[in-house]
Amino acid sequence: MPSDNKQEVYFSNPMLKWVDERFPLSKVLREHATEYYASKNFNIWYIFGVLSTVVLVLMLLTGIFLTMNYKPSAAEAFNSVEYIMRSVEYGWLMRYMHSTGASFFFIVLYLHMFRGMLYGSYKNPRELIWLLGMMLYFCLMAEAFLGYILPWGNMSYWAAQVIVNLFGTIPFIGDTLVEWIRGDYYISDITLNRFFALHVIAVPLAILGLVFAHIVALHHIGSNNPDGIEIKDNKDAQGKPIDGVAFHPFHTSKDLVWITIFLILYFGAVFFAPEMGGLFLEVDNFEPANPLKTPEHIVPSWYFTPYYAILRSIPDSLLGFIALVSAVLCFVFLPWLDKCKVKSIRYRGWQYKVALAIFVISFVSLGYLGMQPSSGIYLILARLFTVVYFSFFLLMPFYTRLEKTKPVPDRVVYKK
Ligand code: HEM
Repeated sequence: MPSDNKQEVYFSNPMLKWVDERFPLSKVLREHATEYYASKNFNIWYIFGVLSTVVLVLMLLTGIFLTMNYKPSAAEAFNSVEYIMRSVEYGWLMRYMHSTGASFFFIVLYLHMFRGMLYGSYKNPRELIWLLGMMLYFCLMAEAFLGYILPWGNMSYWAAQVIVNLFGTIPFIGDTLVEWIRGDYYISDITLNRFFALHVIAVPLAILGLVFAHIVALHHIGSNNPDGIEIKDNKDAQGKPIDGVAFHPFHTSKDLVWITIFLILYFGAVFFAPEMGGLFLEVDNFEPANPLKTPEHIVPSWYFTPYYAILRSIPDSLLGFIALVSAVLCFVFLPWLDKCKVKSIRYRGWQYKVALAIFVISFVSLGYLGMQPSSGIYLILARLFTVVYFSFFLLMPFYTRLEKTKPVPDRVVYKK
């Protein structure tokens, strides 16, 4: 714990000192930055949490500027987006940063989640960090879906139609539920208005609260590392973890390099490929919503296509919906499905390594298949990979028990 003496000398600036006497500024900075010790052997997989935070800030800022000129009504929404793109100063930049940001959010998020699966970050004592992360994932999925509807392009309209109607497959309450979500008998101005309210205030608030809780829980337990060792178990005479370095300035300075590289890639996409060949912005969304004209292939954004492929691989619509929801929910149970005591993949048996590799192949393949027509060989493959996807989770308690693990070192392995 910081001594009072230390608190006095933390700031030389009189203004900051004045604040510090009235608000625990130096205490927070010490506990969460200059005296928060994280393992010195973090590798590139540990940057994606920070990058998720960077993208979140970018999305909030650009979203505020978009809201200044966007009109949430069925009659005006599409034209207001065109107005932002053509007439508002730097409106095109705000819009492309926001639309590209959505895709980059999911890129860094999937890599962030994958890191957890590589190094067993979801295991005891970090289950709650994982669960809060999963809640964030659900909120971000909702946020992305709601945002996609707002430009009121033809794909927005039909995506809303397909996704909202999925709830109609639920027995007994389905039809009433769909009506309640839409606020109308069809996808209308009322639906767009409430989706706007949820997108700009309700869900972002939930996301901010969850990110706060995610970080508080993380700093309470301490970060995991690529060796899956608890660095708090090895402390020096001052009580500092021997294998840890202060988050600031050591990790922050290194993170800045990665943030710069990330921003170069991100702005590369914003300036040179904002549509990314139809992956980030779809062709059908460049024409206004038209209830009389169904797009030839209704395809969600790329980050939802693995689940979309699972939905379509099952002929019965209720079972398809259940499979879709279960596919997303499976991740929640990882801390309890994985029975191996060793955290890091470095010291785990071949069973988990093979299973994880096959799972990644199935997830990526489903993502591709979700963009293809649901027929012929595509459908057969989607069914095959759906079985592989669920097997990864359902068989986990069995194959992780069989693992022959390697001895885990006492101290983290650090290569210069
Ligand atoms: C808005 C979304 C999110 C933000 C801003 C965020 C932010 C962060 C940050 C800054 C860290 C610490 C740095 C790091 O270890 O990478 C972290 C750690 C962690 N996050 Fe997230 N996260 C988000 C979503 C998620 C999701 C969806 C999951 C998984 C379901 C998740 C699971 C974890 C876990 C398990 C850790 C601890 C990792 C370790 O110590 O090895 N997070 N997160």
